[in-house]
Amino acid sequence: MFDPVEKLKEFVRCPSVSTDPRYKDGMRAAQGFVSGLLGSLGFAVEVVPTGLHPIILAQRAGEPGWPHIIIYGHYDVQPPDPLNLWKTPPFEPTEREGRLWGRGTADNKGPLMAHIAAVGRLLEKNPRVPLRLTFLIEGEEETGSPSFLPFLEKFSRRLDGDFVFLSDTGIPREDQAVVTCGLRGLTLCEVEVTGARMDLHSGLHGGVLRNPIQALAELCASLHTPDGRVNIPGYYDDVLEVEPWEREELGRLGTNEAEYREFLGIPAFHAPPGYTPFEAVRFLPTLEFNGIGGGYQGEGSKTVIPSKALVKISCRLVPNQTPQKIRPLLYAAIRERMPKDVTFRIIDQHDGMPYVVVPPGRSNTPRNQPPRLAQAFRALDAAATEVFGRAPLYLREGGSVPIIGDIKRVLGLDSVLFGLFLPQDNLHAPNESFNLRVMQKGSEVSERMLSTLAAG
Ligand code: BES
Ligand code: MN
Repeated sequence: MFDPVEKLKEFVRCPSVSTDPRYKDGMRAAQGFVSGLLGSLGFAVEVVPTGLHPIILAQRAGEPGWPHIIIYGHYDVQPPDPLNLWKTPPFEPTEREGRLWGRGTADNKGPLMAHIAAVGRLLEKNPRVPLRLTFLIEGEEETGSPSFLPFLEKFSRRLDGDFVFLSDTGIPREDQAVVTCGLRGLTLCEVEVTGARMDLHSGLHGGVLRNPIQALAELCASLHTPDGRVNIPGYYDDVLEVEPWEREELGRLGTNEAEYREFLGIPAFHAPPGYTPFEAVRFLPTLEFNGIGGGYQGEGSKTVIPSKALVKISCRLVPNQTPQKIRPLLYAAIRERMPKDVTFRIIDQHDGMPYVVVPPGRSNTPRNQPPRLAQAFRALDAAATEVFGRAPLYLREGGSVPIIGDIKRVLGLDSVLFGLFLPQDNLHAPNESFNLRVMQKGSEVSERMLSTLAAG
């Protein structure tokens, strides 16, 4: 059996940034690494080309009639920028303080390695284990998975699984396991505002036209109410009501608002009334400005009225909102509220569906669940309880893994999400790291769950 930490280092050394064409070689290296590793475990590996980054489909036949588990992960990572803030280079993994540091260690290479190692040990102990297993590892997760839907449609016959199993969500503390039972969705766009057809001298022309930065700022300011809600008619219409058990479960987190506030470094929270910050991030949609620009941003000053201003907007959606419904509401608000003395265009970006799954025995409204899904939840609960020394919590998360909703829609399969990254892991930020004890525990949980299912 390979050493999971050494293998993870090798994986992290492949600079697989999916959004930036300059990392093409790193993407290839990561594909080669994953295919090689899964091949060495006896999987039949296919690297399926897509319009952008190939999807790795690795299958093990097992015995007909036995559970088929699809393990999902992504081999791509976020850009490492800003580089100067890293204490050690992002693609030269280093071990310090019980953690492995480097881009992608937590999101998602470490958690994925935990599952690959679990399967490796399972097969080493029992090469004839009857489970049917598929690894589905994509390379476009961090850019909205544009190739995933067509892939699913094309390969649906071979993806005849019972459920999807993955770790691409978080836990609050090293000793508290979490089964994630909901994710937010997304809808993204950009708005580009144009004033005059060129930049203008603000002395020669200032005072006769609306500055596009001002127009954009006015628009942006109109999109929230003073108490922090999104100010778009109909925005909250489809928001799923929070069930009492969800609030209770969240209460068991043992979180502390003051600590969270200090962790963020903010003087006060700004969350819609009626929701704690911990609830707001899981149960409510948002509208965020991810970047705004226009005009002169260099050293010193420049007396200019810029021709253009641009904002990037992302809406996080919760069940049962859909991008199909929210996008038109957002666009209508933009069109109505943009000052009429500028021109503008809205540029579509990608979408992702929100997701929710109710674990067996939680909700007051019983649901019909496929027996193997319910069995998987129970096996995971038992495994996590043994390994972490206490029962896992069942929580929704604020982040998004849009393919989970696509899989539900196209294949009809639910996902069993086992959280593994910690708040300190700095996902998407400089100095990302992954706690190696958590990796070990996660791998142990995965192996136990799979062997319970393999025992029939
Ligand atoms: N692993 C994250 C999703 C995540 C983050 C789940 C935090 C739970 C808590 C995933 O890789 C990610 O970053 N997703 C993007 C999706 C987007 C780029 C389409 C996100 O949530 O912003
Ligand atoms: Mn991820």
